[in-house]
Amino acid sequence: MSRLLIGVTGGIAAYKAVELVRLAGRAGHAVRVIQTPTSRRFVGGATFSGITGAPVLTGEFEDDPLRGAYPGDPADERAPISHLALVAGADAYLIAPASANTLAKLAHGHADNLVTTAALAADCPVLVAPAMNDRMYRHPATEENLERLRGRGVTIIGPADGELASHGERGLGRMAEPADLLAACEATIHPAQADSGAWLGRRVLVTAGGTREPIDSVRYIGNRSSGRMGVALAARAAARGAEVTLVAANLAVPPPAGVRVIEVHTAAQLATATREEFPACDVLLMAAAVADFRPRDPAADKLRKAGGAPTLILEPTEDVIATLAGRRREGQVVVGFAAEHGDAAVAGAREKLVRKGLDAVVVNDISRADIGFDTPENEVTVVTREGERPLPRAGKGAIADDVLHEVGRLLSVKESDHRTTRADGNRAAGV
Ligand SMILES: Cc1cc2nc3c(=O)[nH]c(=O)nc-3n(C[C@H](O)[C@H](O)[C@H](O)COP(=O)(O)O)c2cc1C
Repeated sequence: MSRLLIGVTGGIAAYKAVELVRLAGRAGHAVRVIQTPTSRRFVGGATFSGITGAPVLTGEFEDDPLRGAYPGDPADERAPISHLALVAGADAYLIAPASANTLAKLAHGHADNLVTTAALAADCPVLVAPAMNDRMYRHPATEENLERLRGRGVTIIGPADGELASHGERGLGRMAEPADLLAACEATIHPAQADSGAWLGRRVLVTAGGTREPIDSVRYIGNRSSGRMGVALAARAAARGAEVTLVAANLAVPPPAGVRVIEVHTAAQLATATREEFPACDVLLMAAAVADFRPRDPAADKLRKAGGAPTLILEPTEDVIATLAGRRREGQVVVGFAAEHGDAAVAGAREKLVRKGLDAVVVNDISRADIGFDTPENEVTVVTREGERPLPRAGKGAIADDVLHEVGRLLSVKESDHRTTRADGNRAAGV
């Protein structure tokens, strides 16, 4: 978990800062937002404070009810000076969108509002995401300002080329996407943990949620999985720059932005979707809770009470991860998730790893009520061929980060093995 200070300035892309703040919160970061007075004409503070759960300040003289603290941190006993306290507590300060006006002020050291004053007081890394009309962006004044800021160690992210806010216009000036902005902050804060090298451009297939197997037209056999863990994995992989496809089975939480979603309901639908997507992916994270058995003959209509208690005959569903692991090409990483009971959890996961030919199994102990199914927190052990890595109890976003860190390592090892095998083959063939 990191503490991010996000400064929002006046431009239409301020609406995208809402998504950025949402992604950052979902990824487990504590976020404070400050705004320029002009930005309030584009997006109100209530939106940001609703998402972050923290007050949003616009003026240097405004009282901060949290006294400079970040959500989850204890507040200071005394009222500190906000522009100093907020940057002192931040791991990174990102200004997004950064208007041409604010960039000019930053380049010249102006400190005439909370966003610019905080930038001048910042010891933490400062990142800016310019967003403006392409003529404003290409103006020599803006170019010089950005060059100056770059020279002072400020990270400039984007802008991107594409559709602009002004009606019918396209060009260079569009703000970088929120997931990319978050990934840039994380890479700045934890360059080693961010693994951006391992994940950038990787195609990641994630399954999440719990399948439902029909008994009749309205009833089903389901399970308690909410999909939170899979959704956190998808969000965190996307934030690291991966291209993510999420096979979503009956999620109780919204899917993350910036990922492709394929909705499924039953184990058979999940198997079909995963089988179709698997050949194109580099990593499969099978976090969905898939039924092992389904009613063999579901009734087409609703079963009536008057008909008496029905006898359900169950049949096994396809073990899709075992099938896919058996078909994987060199370099592909296949990760299973297991819910096991009590002390035998890790041994059960290892047996699964070997029997199904997986690269890793992430196991959690479902005998505990405080973690796992349908809770925001988890505590898991990552079991690989080399050993076991327990990940202490944390929010599912933080657990997802640690799991991806382990999987990123496996991916790099497989890749270098694959390269060595290819080079050996070429040498043997005299190429
Ligand atoms: C509808 C509208 C959209 C605007 N969009 C942008 C923009 O995308 N980028 C920009 O640099 N300025 C934009 N401006 C101009 C800024 O709002 C203006 O320069 C303002 O002084 C910026 O203040 P701030 O940097 O303190 O937030 C826009 C103005 C209007 C009226």
